[in-house]
Amino acid sequence: MIQIDLPTAEATTELGAQLAASLPQNSGHGWTVLLKGELGAGKSTLVRGFLKALGHEGPVPSPTYTLVEPYELDGGRVFHVDLYRIGGEDELWFLGSDEFATGLTLVEWPERAPGFAASGDLEIALRYATPGRHAALVPRSARADVWLAALGEAIASESPP
Ligand SMILES: Nc1ncnc2c1ncn2[C@@H]1O[C@H](COP(=O)(O)OP(=O)(O)OP(=O)(O)O)[C@@H](O)[C@H]1O
Ligand SMILES: [Mg+2]
Repeated sequence: MIQIDLPTAEATTELGAQLAASLPQNSGHGWTVLLKGELGAGKSTLVRGFLKALGHEGPVPSPTYTLVEPYELDGGRVFHVDLYRIGGEDELWFLGSDEFATGLTLVEWPERAPGFAASGDLEIALRYATPGRHAALVPRSARADVWLAALGEAIASESPP
């Protein structure tokens, strides 16, 4: 597990960017990242930093109503999912969830679809702190262990003790 203080919104964006930069190359598709945390905890902010670091330019609209926003980037496909307003887990099929296996999916409110969330690789729990927010990153697969090890090195090299 990695725990990190995020004193400002920029720090949340930066964590998203560091995650993108640390993603293991040639590690296959079907990555699922679960973004937990109450309203306003910074989930979408982290996704913005992630997408921007992968070369996405322009806005990152909230998937509050569409539930899924797909991105075609040079590094592959990214699906930004927000399940806050999903009616039931079966709705995931109508949202094209079978496509998620072709890319990397970042899911806000994964608690709304527990069966789907059970297959997550990485869980990121954001919570309010003073100042800002706090993040706890928990790997749930062997390849997520590799990802977090790389992230830990990137963070350590940026802020030596
Ligand atoms: N580390 C931080 N410190 C202070 N403010 C932050 C931090 N991270 C994000 N914010 C701010 O919190 C607000 C809400 O962020 P965001 O929309 O990312 O939350 P969310 O978790 O996606 O919420 P929702 O559940 O409604 O989708 C934004 O104004 C954002 O700039
Ligand atoms: Mg959000």
